[in-house]
Amino acid sequence: QAPVDLAIGTAAWGEQMLTDYDPAAPTEFQDVLSRQFSSVTPENDMKWDAVHPAPDVYDFASADAVVAFAKANHQKVRGHTLLWHSQNPAWVTEASGTWTCDQAKDVLEDHIRTVVGHFKGEIYEWDVANEIFKDTWDAGGVSLRTDRNPFLKACADDPVGLLADAFTWAHEADPDAVLFLNDYNAEGINEKTDAYYDLAQQLLDRGAPLGGFGAQAHLSLLYGFDASLQANLERFAALGLKVAITEADVRIPLLDGETEPTAEQVATQTERYQALLQACLNVTACSSFTVWGFSDAHSWVPDVFPGEGWATISDEDYTPKPAFDALLTSL
Ligand code: XIL
Repeated sequence: QAPVDLAIGTAAWGEQMLTDYDPAAPTEFQDVLSRQFSSVTPENDMKWDAVHPAPDVYDFASADAVVAFAKANHQKVRGHTLLWHSQNPAWVTEASGTWTCDQAKDVLEDHIRTVVGHFKGEIYEWDVANEIFKDTWDAGGVSLRTDRNPFLKACADDPVGLLADAFTWAHEADPDAVLFLNDYNAEGINEKTDAYYDLAQQLLDRGAPLGGFGAQAHLSLLYGFDASLQANLERFAALGLKVAITEADVRIPLLDGETEPTAEQVATQTERYQALLQACLNVTACSSFTVWGFSDAHSWVPDVFPGEGWATISDEDYTPKPAFDALLTSL
């Protein structure tokens, strides 16, 4: 039995799907979204390039639409994200490498206080820092992305200090939001999650208001499933943190020209989704389980991973897949 306060969420791109919402005449997307989920993560609408297109310009139009939709449907909102190397506006990218650490901190502080403050009281969990570690296969191996993240780059002498400040600013702007670290390839116990575990301890030692660790869980059938997920969540929970599955999808390699997977692939996808949810259900501190889109009609996967698809829990017509039924049964 799922804990009553476990949020079951999905990503939804407000700019594309929610700015035009009439509760009396919802689109099919809006109707399904309102009925099947208790939490919404704005897929792109709260990222830097969306809300802060120029140094003195903040634009909350599409993010506000997501929050309004969620409110109208008694859903919670997961904020995503305040510090990332991707989807930054040109003015940030161009300034990258020229900022001193103090200048970068001023820019980031203004951003975090303004954005988190704008949504104060509306967001239950914020992904404060997203994908801040490199992977084992990146140049230099697992370490903080002081190369590509413009803020970590400017503060490469003390990146943990910058991160501690980021969490503090967010906490001051909205003391009720639980503040997360979030990343991919962060499900099992591995070199990257060891680095996160170490960072979490450092942040907590410095008194930073870190509140949660999120495993994105973008899985692919091209790779195995790491059964140490539950143990990994448990070790972060033992630090006093909430944990979450924040962006689950399970993409399937499809043969050239094929749009349907084999029965075996479907079965494996179903098992993977179920394993993700079960690990969360088994850990009391797991506060939210979010899929990254709920229909293949609106999935980032085919655009980003050529040759892979069919990654979500419903097909393009919103017909539930076996994974959907399995998740429902587990709840
Ligand atoms: C993706 C969105 O789904 C796409 O629409 C966008 O073009 C790129 O970003 N990890 C994250 C998410 O933290 O923000 C990403 O979302 C997927 C990977």
